[in-house]
Amino acid sequence: MDQIRGFRFLGQAETCRVLLLMTLVVAFILGLQYFELTPISTGTLGNGTVSGFIESNNITKGDENEMFLAPQEATSEFRPGNSTTEVLKSYEHKFLNNSPKAYGQSSGNESASSHHPLQPKIPHSNKKHERSTKKPPLVVISITQMNQMIVKRHSDPNNSLTPRWESNVDRELKDARNKIKNAALVKKDNTLYAPLYHNLSIFKRSYELMEQTLKVYVYSDGDKPIFHQPEAIMEGVYASEGWFMKLMESSHRFLTKDPTKAHLFYLAFSSRILQQKLYVRDSHSRRNLVKYLRDYIDLIVSRYPFWNRTRGFDHFFTACHDWAPAETRGPYMNCIRSLCNADVGVDFVVGKDVSLPETKISTAQNPNGNIGGNRPSKRTILAFFAGNMHGYVRPILLNHWSSSSEPDMKIFNRINHKSYIRFMKQSRFCVCAKGYEVNSPRVVESVLYGCVPVIISDNFVPPFLEVLDWESFAVFVPEKEIPNLRKILISIPLRRYVEMHKRVLKVQKHFMWHDGEPVRYDMFHMILHSVWYNRVFQTF
Ligand SMILES: *[C@@H]1O[C@H](CO)[C@@H](O)[C@H](O)[C@H]1NC(C)=O
Ligand SMILES: *[C@@H]1O[C@H](CO)[C@@H](O)[C@H](O)[C@H]1NC(C)=O
Ligand SMILES: *[C@@H]1O[C@H](CO)[C@@H](O)[C@H](O)[C@H]1NC(C)=O
Ligand SMILES: *[C@@H]1O[C@H](CO)[C@@H](O)[C@H](O)[C@H]1NC(C)=O
Ligand SMILES: *[C@@H]1O[C@H](CO)[C@@H](O)[C@H](O)[C@H]1NC(C)=O
Ligand SMILES: *[C@@H]1O[C@H](CO)[C@@H](O)[C@H](O)[C@H]1NC(C)=O
Ligand SMILES: *[C@@H]1O[C@H](CO)[C@@H](O)[C@H](O)[C@H]1NC(C)=O
Repeated sequence: MDQIRGFRFLGQAETCRVLLLMTLVVAFILGLQYFELTPISTGTLGNGTVSGFIESNNITKGDENEMFLAPQEATSEFRPGNSTTEVLKSYEHKFLNNSPKAYGQSSGNESASSHHPLQPKIPHSNKKHERSTKKPPLVVISITQMNQMIVKRHSDPNNSLTPRWESNVDRELKDARNKIKNAALVKKDNTLYAPLYHNLSIFKRSYELMEQTLKVYVYSDGDKPIFHQPEAIMEGVYASEGWFMKLMESSHRFLTKDPTKAHLFYLAFSSRILQQKLYVRDSHSRRNLVKYLRDYIDLIVSRYPFWNRTRGFDHFFTACHDWAPAETRGPYMNCIRSLCNADVGVDFVVGKDVSLPETKISTAQNPNGNIGGNRPSKRTILAFFAGNMHGYVRPILLNHWSSSSEPDMKIFNRINHKSYIRFMKQSRFCVCAKGYEVNSPRVVESVLYGCVPVIISDNFVPPFLEVLDWESFAVFVPEKEIPNLRKILISIPLRRYVEMHKRVLKVQKHFMWHDGEPVRYDMFHMILHSVWYNRVFQTF
């Protein structure tokens, strides 16, 4: 943040150039990282956070896949002898000459099965995928930067894919956009606690307009159980895709049977059931899973005109399985992808895609678990974590803290469920450390047990970031700061902690499921709102 402020002292033109270069560095590094090529020094990036990313010119807009285009060529040119700027200069040209609108706009032969020209090959090997997420990212994008990236994306018309033909819904969306931007000032509200939101007036207006306006069309195509069978996925750690599907498909308010009236098109599949039904054990190949989803888009494209109108831009899905990001590249990249595995360092596009909360549901009859916890004065443990040693972060965390002499640090390997819940209810801060992937059910658990989340998962995009001011009620500790974890937590004044705790309780309603008829501002509505919000603000 200091770095961002620092840029103000540079001249305008200078600033632009510096930022442009930094953006290219980021894009380039992310590209390299993605392809797991030789890691390069990030020395030029200071402490690894890149403030310039968000301020960038029109590089990162549109189809973020652009960041993946360079690497194959990169290997030959990027040797230690070459200065970063030199390499960047040669890529600048390529980046600038690739329109983000390229996908689906070219020859008229861009049905779903065609490959995005800039798209990386989908990694079929499960092994490779895991390896790539078991390493620390080379570039870390802070929450502040993610917030700014959303604002930037939502204010840049170059990010919108102009529909092939106009429809009434475009006018309605533009109208909603204007109304939200000109929202009447709301300083206080009986049900919404203002400090939780970036801007209460905006959120409230956007939510109301969603209730009044939004219509979703659900394609009835797609075979059970992978499609349209939410009952099969109402429990476990991937259950949020099932709960969303169930509530969406039975919504009275939001569904329309007339697709010409729809602002959004829902693709009702379960990434978890897809994996359960089609993955061949030990095959290390997801090829057939990817094909299954591709075939579905082919069907939708040939049977209906709606995908073609926006190239899928107004289509969305929810998917919680770890593999979902990799399975939904290609044509699905144009959709609003609501993913649990929301990793801005891989290919999650903030401002377009939506972070889906991961919720661990033990029994479908009681989806929110044994919600509650001690009041601040009865929370005697400073920090708590327990879990399997998945990924690279947790071993580091345990190395530093499991045998710490500080009695208020309760950092464990796996413990039993009962103790786990007890610790969550008795601790001030609950550590949500990255596992194999950036997401963890601990984020929602912490909130529901009244424990302030401490997120140690670089590049994780927390849910509802479009509207929630996460830094006001959670602590984000960069992975490299694990040795300073206790110092960081005890430096938070008690008064501030008490306020954060209060905010965690106030935000709980956004992280609760309700069976039958969903309740205003609950998890179902908040997911749908983030999809709606990104749809509205990418309409110009
Ligand atoms: C990097 O971080 C350290 C402490 O974490 C700080 O002292 C130093 O000033 C930072 N350097 C830059 C370039 O931001
Ligand atoms: C540096 O990059 C240029 C292309 O920009 C390439 O022609 C040259 O071979 C590279 N030099 C080294 C030492 O890799
Ligand atoms: C990027 O922006 C510059 C000016 O800011 C413009 O000249 C250029 O055409 C834009 N490129 C694309 C691909 O939109
Ligand atoms: C689209 O491409 C495929 C093969 O790439 C070809 O068989 C087909 O004829 C093309 N269709 C059109 C309409 O150009
Ligand atoms: C959007 O793209 C156009 C050309 O395609 C360019 O002139 C304009 O500067 C871009 N806008 C922004 C905000 O980058
Ligand atoms: C929130 O948004 C409204 C409407 O755009 C604006 O008038 C107000 O100044 C914003 N408030 C804050 C705190 O940014
Ligand atoms: C959508 O576009 C594709 C490719 O241009 C075409 O093959 C398909 O028939 C179109 N769908 C409809 C319903 O017109």
